[in-house]
Amino acid sequence: MKQKGIVSVFTDPMELAGYYAGELVKMINEATKQKRLIRIALSGGSTPELLFSLLGDKYPDSADWKYVHFFWGDERCVAPDNEASNYKMTRISLFDKIAIPFANVHRIKGEDDPEEEALRYSEEISLHTEKANGWPVFDLVILGLGDDGHTASIFPGQLHLIGSDKICEVAAHPLTGQKRITITGQVINNANSVVFLVTGTKKADILDAILNRRSKSMDFPASHVNPVSGNIRWLIDEDAFSLR
Ligand code: 6PG
Repeated sequence: MKQKGIVSVFTDPMELAGYYAGELVKMINEATKQKRLIRIALSGGSTPELLFSLLGDKYPDSADWKYVHFFWGDERCVAPDNEASNYKMTRISLFDKIAIPFANVHRIKGEDDPEEEALRYSEEISLHTEKANGWPVFDLVILGLGDDGHTASIFPGQLHLIGSDKICEVAAHPLTGQKRITITGQVINNANSVVFLVTGTKKADILDAILNRRSKSMDFPASHVNPVSGNIRWLIDEDAFSLR
């Protein structure tokens, strides 16, 4: 791993996922020692999937999972057994392999009416997190980056979701129209820590624009992730960094 400020560059997705799985287990064990719950908002996407698989395969018995509450930063509005469900991906890659209490998995119900579910999930988040600055506090928000600059389910052209005064909103994928439920920018930016997991050559241009604040970069939702805690990291692989 090469460290460049807040950016850590790994040889490949496997090295990245292996490193971060270890970091997450350390974070969970630290909270466990202090008998403190840890609230993590998960992401969909291919690199998170690799991370969750590694966590489930290598560390099922290395953490006391009852101290962890899992949420999602976004979900597609589909049933939980649909191939596109972020919950399904996480269940198969992680939850089926670890002793996580059912009550600690706070899934977004993609099968329900999106507007009603966005409200219900906002309440669920409020109920299970502490509040600061008037917003819920996640210990960690894990994010991916789309090659169009989206993050969670906040897409370009939908920047109002960054400053929204709601905890969750309904969004639509700009190309497919598929409805999504997403946490909003203010919730992301109120987290104690935020980590982006970004791999692959397809991400190189957008990553360059965002990290180097090139012109138009503020059109990309991911450029607006700037947690008040100042605690943000970008874990990327050499392919995503290849243009520098
Ligand atoms: C989703 C996401 C989304 C994702 C990026 C990156 O459910 O679609 O949460 O924000 O993280 O699209 O996805 P990849 O890692 O697969 O490129």
